Amino acid sequence: MKKRTIAVLGMRGQLGTELATRIRTRFEAEVIGPPHQELDLAQEDQISAFMAGNQFDLLVNCTAYNQVEAAQNDPGPAFALNASAVANLAALCKKRGVYLVHFSTDYVFDGTKGSPYDEDDTPNPLNIYGLSKYAGEASLRILHSRHCIIRTSGLYGKHRSPSAKMNFVETILSRVREDQPLSVRNDLICTPTSASELADAACELMDQEAVGTFHASNSGSCSWFDFASEILRLEKISAPIRSTIGDTPTTAASRPAYSVLNTQKLERLGIRLSSWQEALARYLFERKS
Ligand SMILES: NC(=O)c1ccc[n+]([C@@H]2O[C@H](COP(=O)([O-])OP(=O)(O)OC[C@H]3O[C@@H](n4cnc5c(N)ncnc54)[C@H](OP(=O)(O)O)[C@@H]3O)[C@@H](O)[C@H]2O)c1
Repeated sequence: MKKRTIAVLGMRGQLGTELATRIRTRFEAEVIGPPHQELDLAQEDQISAFMAGNQFDLLVNCTAYNQVEAAQNDPGPAFALNASAVANLAALCKKRGVYLVHFSTDYVFDGTKGSPYDEDDTPNPLNIYGLSKYAGEASLRILHSRHCIIRTSGLYGKHRSPSAKMNFVETILSRVREDQPLSVRNDLICTPTSASELADAACELMDQEAVGTFHASNSGSCSWFDFASEILRLEKISAPIRSTIGDTPTTAASRPAYSVLNTQKLERLGIRLSSWQEALARYLFERKS
């Protein structure tokens, strides 16, 4: 029997690496997906050439322009990848009858709801990154009904793509190693999410060919200060952390104060991620092995 072919874009990112590995084993599929240097999704002609030159019936887009601060000062790259590229992929997937799985963010919300956000709550992004991701979601919904949009938050994973900055956990641990002071926001509440667990959940959704928008994060919630404190506690490090509130003069992008995602829709499909504390403990254990 011919192996199924699944395209994964952004295969060297935190999530893309985890997903590509799982897709290979779970779906016994051949995974294709050129790296950024060979396929720049910001170039429409390169997307068309990739789609024309390859056969697959499922495309998973794990690419993103995630630099929240840089996007605020220069929106072009964020919109090129997070919005225009998604619209181009959606139009071509529709033409070819390809099921498209895409990822988005809690930053589409403004954080004023005060309770976990449902999938159909109205987005109102506070920054350019969130706006560009929302534009990508909206284009996909309009252009191609056979899609699955998975929103997540506070993602961290053991793989780091060449252009990405260190994830939050590694940033905290490296600052401690270098004896640098730790100051962490205590007024921004979300749910840190393990890329490895998110990849498992995404595979489940793909298996069920789920259509629509889904929130997928670990369970529970915390501030970034709580998250940093738990990293140090689990690592038995006794460095002081200063709890901070509010933007600094150098912060360009506003962030939602409370962007916890309600994951009940996912749970109704039988998919449940562990608590953020358990997922963090597992990450810290596995990074040492
Ligand atoms: N990170 C978070 O905290 C977070 C939070 C909420 C939601 N999300 C969403 O989760 C998804 C996965 O994020 P992630 O953290 O895994 O991202 P990531 O580690 O930064 O990986 C992004 C990938 O996109 C590729 N890429 C960047 N620009 C490209 C371009 N112009 N053309 C082709 N490929 C390009 C990167 O390749 P190179 O490195 O080679 O450039 C990399 O492989 C994204 O949709 C993101 O918006 C992330």
